[in-house]
Amino acid sequence: MKHIFIEGKDKHAPTLLLLHGTGGNEKDLLPIAEMIAPDASVLGVKGNVSENGMPRFFRRISEGVFDEEDLIFRTNELNEFLEDSAKKYQFDREQVLAIGYSNGANIAASLMYHHKNALQGAILLHAMVPRRKVEIPNLDGTPIFIGAGVNDPIIPIEETKELAEALRNAHANITEHWGQAGHQLTREEIEQAKTWYEKNF
Ligand code: MLT
Repeated sequence: MKHIFIEGKDKHAPTLLLLHGTGGNEKDLLPIAEMIAPDASVLGVKGNVSENGMPRFFRRISEGVFDEEDLIFRTNELNEFLEDSAKKYQFDREQVLAIGYSNGANIAASLMYHHKNALQGAILLHAMVPRRKVEIPNLDGTPIFIGAGVNDPIIPIEETKELAEALRNAHANITEHWGQAGHQLTREEIEQAKTWYEKNF
């Protein structure tokens, strides 16, 4: 997968896995990583799927309706890419914290839905429920920050709540942040994510 790896000064910090939104690239979330954990190593990845030239992490049939088969295939592909990257760049595979926005948050959630211990934690910014009626592995207290906007035109409040509930039922340790915003990222939620990061890592 196309990616960028930047080794950080702090060898004890988790490696930040950066997953962009539709139409983004492997560098999009570098400023966000810099705000949250400036000394951590980062692995920014670009989605392998193209939707009319816009990179994504998995196919969708329409807005909010995912191609499940492709979602599972791409989730496995990303998980294998993490295994390979950990060897290549010599970071601890057990210490990966995903920061995902929108489509990137959805594949980060999907990693946790499908692979036990895929992530040490996650910052899910404007995420949706990746799949329904599946058993999520025991997340054993995995810290997860969920950032959402009460006026998000793409993601209804109930959908974010459903995701939080599903992850809580799988024993994740969920922190929710609700901003008075839409689908776009806000400085406020990134600052809240930073506070959460400093408490948990
Ligand atoms: C998705 O397709 O993953 C979500 O609808 C969010 C988006 O990327 O627009």
